[in-house]
Amino acid sequence: MDKICINGGKELQGQVTVSGAKNACLALMPLTILASEPIKMTNVPRLSDINTMKQLLISLGSIIREDLFKGSLHLHTPKISSHDAAYDIVRKMRASILVLGPLLAREGRARVSLPGGCAIGARPVDLHLFGLEKLGATLDLKDGYIRARASSRLRGNTIEFPFISVGATENLIMAATLAKGTTVLKNSAKEPEIIDLCNCINSMGGKIEGMGSSEIVIEGVDNLKGTQHEVLGDRIEMGTFMLAPAMAGGQVIVKGCPPTYLTAFTRKLSETGISVETGENEITVTRKNDTLKPINVVTEPFPGFPTDLQAQMMALTCLAKGKSTLEEKIFENRFMHAPELIRMGARIEVQGGIASVTGVDSMKGAPVMATDLRASVSLILAGLASKGETVVSRVYHLDRGYENIERKLATCGAQIERVV
Ligand code: UD1
Repeated sequence: MDKICINGGKELQGQVTVSGAKNACLALMPLTILASEPIKMTNVPRLSDINTMKQLLISLGSIIREDLFKGSLHLHTPKISSHDAAYDIVRKMRASILVLGPLLAREGRARVSLPGGCAIGARPVDLHLFGLEKLGATLDLKDGYIRARASSRLRGNTIEFPFISVGATENLIMAATLAKGTTVLKNSAKEPEIIDLCNCINSMGGKIEGMGSSEIVIEGVDNLKGTQHEVLGDRIEMGTFMLAPAMAGGQVIVKGCPPTYLTAFTRKLSETGISVETGENEITVTRKNDTLKPINVVTEPFPGFPTDLQAQMMALTCLAKGKSTLEEKIFENRFMHAPELIRMGARIEVQGGIASVTGVDSMKGAPVMATDLRASVSLILAGLASKGETVVSRVYHLDRGYENIERKLATCGAQIERVV
């Protein structure tokens, strides 16, 4: 199994460009099965989660051609050949649930295994099911599968989510796009990846308004046509790379995503005393030899501080002077990186959903184990700032969401390599 070895303590200098957003792509790909015409996506990241989604769509009847060199995917589903999203594929990735809405809208039936994914909490799918029922679907759960049927076309409705869910908002948008009449989604998620999804749907002939706000209005259309769409840049990858010079020292320019998608994160990073300069599509992060100030972070749905950057920010607070707190409000079990950071010398106490971090002067390299996607990258960041060698094992978690991270960091001067 691959490992990442880091010889820490080297200042970073350089620039990196983030890849296309994994989370945007994982919704855009299932969207393509709503249309029988081909769709071309560019700026698609090369990640194992994208491969899993490809595998799933192919099992449903999609024909997918990949241009590895250009990072583009051509997806074409002239006919759905199976309505079954099998356990073997779905268990690898929770986002597989996003085929449920499109299959149901196009075909009036679907059978989708209950999903797996990162071990960061229970992560139920009740909101997806609640919304689809409101659009007229009949659902039952049997043998670990969701069986969904609609006797005729789905019908538009007003749906108010009891709390915010990114995936449920996406599934409902896709299902409502081919429903009869108008759907109003209240208390929707506002993530940039949802705006990207809606922009793509509108370029296919869909009629969506209000994306990026908490109320999204979808006027159903009879069908969608093919299109070409460039996936937006990955804001979580951008935030992760911003933390690399913040931890190790030096200056890195991170390009490829509008900084406005990271405002809450950037504000917290600046509070630590790190210099952050934003341009139109890039951010420059500089750390001289300054002392880091402690911060208090609370994760929230967009535009709040993203849960997907909590583990990485925790790595930085381990080196601040004083006590920081990180409160995780989205997932109940998302502090699995804490025991590994402690092995590298950090002082962290976790009680319920709050981690209290007392900064230390320095951390030391150690063998550590990745437990989920964002936890794995927090260990790499800690390794960049630690004395001696850090070896991160179980990096298959990392490969779900970061394309070539070791190469991108190495171009900035990090001593990092993958050992196969
Ligand atoms: C998406 C992102 C993930 C990110 C998360 C929150 C993708 C592929 N993944 O995940 O990286 O961490 O948003 O920003 O885009 N919930 C329920 N019932 C439901 C649905 C969700 O209880 O039916 C709960 C979840 O367990 C969680 C919270 O709601 O506690 C938010 O989850 P949600 O926004 O749905 O996250 P995902 O779409 O799974």
